[in-house]
Amino acid sequence: MRQLPELFEANRRWSEQQKGRDPLYFERLCGLQRPKYLWIGCADSRVPANTIIGLEPGEVFVHRNIANLVNPDDTNCMAILQYAIDVLAVEHVIVCGHYGCGGIQAAMGPVLESPLEEWLSPLRQLVQQCGSDGEQTGTSNPSRAHWYTLCEKNVASQVAVLESLPVVRAARERGQTLSLHGWIYDLHDGLLRDLRAA
Ligand code: CO
Repeated sequence: MRQLPELFEANRRWSEQQKGRDPLYFERLCGLQRPKYLWIGCADSRVPANTIIGLEPGEVFVHRNIANLVNPDDTNCMAILQYAIDVLAVEHVIVCGHYGCGGIQAAMGPVLESPLEEWLSPLRQLVQQCGSDGEQTGTSNPSRAHWYTLCEKNVASQVAVLESLPVVRAARERGQTLSLHGWIYDLHDGLLRDLRAA
């Protein structure tokens, strides 16, 4: 017996709907993938890239992981960036964090078992740095404001990592159009904010 029938049923309805609106929809999508955007976001189920920016299949290349990290040691993320920049020639790389990120919260708490602990290690460093900056030092129960500030700082930190990557530098040196963006999403109202905008 087929498992999760409700998901297959929803898929069948969606496929019919797309074909109803545009009989050549899938045919055209098969032919070409040329998204302008690469989205690097959190794996959190409440932050689905296509949905919140209103883009259709084919319009955004997506990489998601816990706490939207760009780690040069992460082969998956580096391969995505290489493909997106060198082959797809995306014009924008968007790092999108979100307030209330469980990954950030975990990095503020007790040590976990690996692999989660290993994954969160760059965030542990960020949490430590922010603590030593004199913010909320010594709090055993970090406030929501501090947590949310760390969600923003994490985005800035990932954009800084992006800036330093050879794949990004090489694209710029050869004059390829490539902008980096740091955004944050608010689960409370579904709105995005550009952290780099004045
Ligand atoms: Co998250």
